Amino acid sequence: MVIQESMRLYPPIWIIERRVIADDIIGGYTLPAGSSVAISPYALHRHPAFWERPEVFNPSRFQNAPPAAYIPFGAGPRFCIGNEFAMLEAHIITVMMLQKFQLSLVPGHPIVPQPDITLRSKHGMMMTLRRR
Ligand code: HEM
Repeated sequence: MVIQESMRLYPPIWIIERRVIADDIIGGYTLPAGSSVAISPYALHRHPAFWERPEVFNPSRFQNAPPAAYIPFGAGPRFCIGNEFAMLEAHIITVMMLQKFQLSLVPGHPIVPQPDITLRSKHGMMMTLRRR
């Protein structure tokens, strides 16, 4: 749930693009063929219509199945093929680290999201590790 909640607030793929192949109307908006549409997991994951107190880091919200507005690995025919591998890897790394170390953010270290191709931390994540 911690990993899921982390990817809700900071989805590595923060924006997904699609090219419109034929004229269409979605939600009252005209989409001409050839135009591009951006879908932002970052914005969707913080949308108050789908998430209660969206800015709060609350892993317990994943005790229930996430709403359709949760798409860290995309959706539909282009759904990430590495989804399960990535989740397994994240679990193993997190568990192995936490078994040996207690991690805390260096006080005052700025957390600034940087939206490149993937969402990164502009100044890194300066942590202090204490052996358990
Ligand atoms: C936390 C890690 C990962 C995240 C957040 C992630 C996210 C995504 C997202 C959002 C898409 C959909 C892109 C779109 O709709 O345009 C995607 C597609 C894809 N991902 Fe991942 N991914 C991750 C890890 C991986 C890994 C580990 C692999 C390979 C081992 C992988 C391989 C792919 C491939 C091949 C596609 C394209 C699938 C297609 O177009 O049919 N991903 N990923």
